Amino acid sequence: MISRITSYDQYKTAYERSLYDADNFWAEVAAGYHWRKMWDRVHSGGFEKVDYKWFEGARLNITVNCLDRHLESFADKTAIIWEPNDPDEAGRRLSYRELHREVCKFSNVLKQLGVTKGDTVCIYMPMIPELAVAMLACARVGAIHSIVFGGFSAQSLSGRIQDAECKLLITADGFYRGDKAVHLKNMADEALQDCPSIKNVIIYRRSNAEISIMAGRDLFWDQLMASASDQHEAEIMDAEDPLFILYTSGSTGKPKGVVHTTAGYMVYVGYTFLNVFQYREHEVYWCTADIGWITGHSYVVYGPLLNGATTLMYEGIPAYPDWSRWWKIISKYSVDIFYTAPTAIRSFQAQGEEHLQGADLSSLRLLGSVGEPINEEAWEWYHRQIGKEHCPIVDTWWQTETGGILITSLGGVTPAKPSFATLPFPGIEPVIVDTNGVLQNDLVAEGNLCIRRSWPGQARTVYKDHDRFIKTYFTTYRGMYFTGDGCRRDDDGFYRITGRVDDVIKVSGHRIGTAEVESAINEHPDVVESAVVPIPHEIKGEAIIAFVICRGENEATDQARAMQQLEHEVIQTVSKTVGPIAKPEKVYMVSGLPKTRSGKIMRRILRKIAEGHPDQTGDISTLLNPEIVDEIKRMVAASMPAK
Ligand code: PRX
Repeated sequence: MISRITSYDQYKTAYERSLYDADNFWAEVAAGYHWRKMWDRVHSGGFEKVDYKWFEGARLNITVNCLDRHLESFADKTAIIWEPNDPDEAGRRLSYRELHREVCKFSNVLKQLGVTKGDTVCIYMPMIPELAVAMLACARVGAIHSIVFGGFSAQSLSGRIQDAECKLLITADGFYRGDKAVHLKNMADEALQDCPSIKNVIIYRRSNAEISIMAGRDLFWDQLMASASDQHEAEIMDAEDPLFILYTSGSTGKPKGVVHTTAGYMVYVGYTFLNVFQYREHEVYWCTADIGWITGHSYVVYGPLLNGATTLMYEGIPAYPDWSRWWKIISKYSVDIFYTAPTAIRSFQAQGEEHLQGADLSSLRLLGSVGEPINEEAWEWYHRQIGKEHCPIVDTWWQTETGGILITSLGGVTPAKPSFATLPFPGIEPVIVDTNGVLQNDLVAEGNLCIRRSWPGQARTVYKDHDRFIKTYFTTYRGMYFTGDGCRRDDDGFYRITGRVDDVIKVSGHRIGTAEVESAINEHPDVVESAVVPIPHEIKGEAIIAFVICRGENEATDQARAMQQLEHEVIQTVSKTVGPIAKPEKVYMVSGLPKTRSGKIMRRILRKIAEGHPDQTGDISTLLNPEIVDEIKRMVAASMPAK
């Protein structure tokens, strides 16, 4: 079994040892898993050459650790509890035995379709147990899964399939998100118009919506499963074989296909799950993230299953049919551990406490927060209203690239502090640097957050583009992994993450790149150029504001209407190109954008104006077009509510 840290002193000892005796430390953690062959070396390589490896030489399959390993001792324990979108529809429970059986069968389906080790498979599905079955079956046959969040557009899906050259797409006919029907298969059909690598599409019937079928390419899940054997011997993988690709946004260019490999990811995610949440044998754990994001990969599926936990999956949204739904789910299944995002907490807080009346939250033992900074008010509300002042809160800081949680308290074991992620997890060596890369060695410090040594769950590369991986994360500060986040360290040595310092925006915890949104806006035929910036938002954490230069003049009388129409179209273009989550909150039609003499857009100035601090734009005299700043200031001031 994987080992648990149970006191603050133990944490301190484990942390120190994880740095000075790292190989032995990780070897002991890894010994809690099932290996076909043990490793030759725990760790090699580093950040200089960006060639780090973990458990090299070992052979294993992660699904043997998630499933087969548990069959002897608790085959009948519930692995997945599934709660559908519609509260009147029956939920489902899959025991470890049943989940293992489904995964084996689906592995045989994949095999029969010619999917083998190293192939890439795209999964575009709602939050149903079959999504977990599909990803685990990929891992079982050695195929690399690339899961695309169901809220992304057809175009985003298409780009991701093309980049990873996926051979197979696994999707559903459709599903309901609240009372809104989502036509997944239609979106998939649109995406597949430009995806020649796809040989087959497997469709799980969820909504029974009418869909079009391409004979020879499209196949139904139930038909394939009906004849599949439930006996499947897992493919044995090398430690460093890729497990999955997950696309995520950065400062520039298209989303990157971040690659995680098998052994290190498994060891790290299983170990963090157990320790951060202090999981105990009979507990029900619920993480509200969609599996399409890294939180869902690591802490809805892999982490809990590696620990033989019971993980709850919910298909719907927080406010359906009303704001009491989540609390009803907690009561219904006696959830012990609850892990969600600050945006959700703030949304509930804004609703008043009515939705909590009558909810029995007494089963809760531990609460978690993830995805964006949690403000103190939200932390306090979560602590009081949901945790009834007795549940520890773990504020877990990490990223798609980190695979698992890096800075956090260990629930109820190490101290917590509102709005602080607090202390590094064993094996993690955070440092703070200034913009020139100078280490800030004082205990109390502020600057950019870097990590100085590799940890097992770290991403290894960007799919087919190792140079981009190196350039993005390892060249800003030599010999260090640059997180893109700013942070402060207080006199307790606790870390507080202050948010992104690059051009990444966190809208409701979703990670969106400015470049992606701008290139979507620029697809509108009337748009010449655009720039987007974040502004603080009471509920969403951040919201997107767009500044757009359009072609041509309109008749003066119709100008206001034409502008409104254009604003609407620009927002729709983003929704269609990237997905509804990336929609700008407000679009300003401007005649120019502030630029340096070398032509670089000064987003910093736009951001200050959009945030309502027009007096903080700094020196603008060196701009190519300083006069534009006043125009933009006037326009934004006119649209802001009077104070
Ligand atoms: O800015 C940090 C923020 O989310 C970013 C990573 O986003 P993503 O790759 O989508 O992964 C989100 C889920 C792990 C980080 O660079 N972030 C994540 N967790 C926290 C956070 N910011 C503050 N506090 C957190 N607990």
